[in-house]
Amino acid sequence: MSQHAQTKRLAAPDIAARKGKEPVVCLTAYTAPMAALLDPHCDLLLVGDSVGMVVHGLPNTVGVTLDMMILHGQAVMRTSTRAMVVVDMPFGSYEAGPETAYANAARIMKETGCQAVKVESGPEVAATVEYLVRRGIPVMGHVGLRPQAVNVDGGFRAKGRTTSERDRVLEEARATDAAGAFAIVVEGVAEDLAQEITRTVSAPTIGIGASAACDGQILVTDDMLGLFDWTPKFVRRYADLRRLVGDAIASYAADVRARTFPASAETYALKPKPRVAGEGERG
Ligand code: KIV
Repeated sequence: MSQHAQTKRLAAPDIAARKGKEPVVCLTAYTAPMAALLDPHCDLLLVGDSVGMVVHGLPNTVGVTLDMMILHGQAVMRTSTRAMVVVDMPFGSYEAGPETAYANAARIMKETGCQAVKVESGPEVAATVEYLVRRGIPVMGHVGLRPQAVNVDGGFRAKGRTTSERDRVLEEARATDAAGAFAIVVEGVAEDLAQEITRTVSAPTIGIGASAACDGQILVTDDMLGLFDWTPKFVRRYADLRRLVGDAIASYAADVRARTFPASAETYALKPKPRVAGEGERG
């Protein structure tokens, strides 16, 4: 056994126990270097299928595959030690039924070593959530604005603004909770609905565009770092990395063109010739 104290990674029961207590800090992570930066500050890192749009330039999350999620999940697991890591199940990997979902979720868990999976949830997938949880796979739900439904919804729109939509989102949250999800992402809903969901369900709610009424918050990391020129209304930009990166690249390009990079400090020189004993000495 190692003599060094192991950092204990947070797990589903730790997050579930935070209901109504200290807010759960979550961000998305897709790569090893970024996961290392996020890990000391976050309780939960989500390898979201938003990776398709953020990293791979897809128009939405529908084209994301299981192999993509596994590759990014492995990268995030390699450099994080403390935060719980949750990997999104991509579109088409869980909707057909509990057994297919189980096979795909088990593959994600085995091949990445992550602690849980996330599904966009509601009454239609409640039986699947329950099936996975009963067989040892912790599940995080996701209700309200469900990005994988973009083709049915005709775009990314806030949810629950009419009475029938409100009832529908509440039903999604209740069904997900009753099925045993350890936490539920609530995306793109007005504050009073987020309050009602948070009051109604036993799992902690993790808001994104769902007000401060939730038990925790999540943002897409690249959005809050200001890497895109457009971000949704609910994003607060904590940095302007787009400008910083643009300025840095412009400086590099100017230096290369002016032949001022690399300078001598950035250039290898010949090693000095080693002295051989006796050489040059008078006998
Ligand atoms: O895929 C994702 O990044 C997500 C978060 C926005 C919650 O589902």
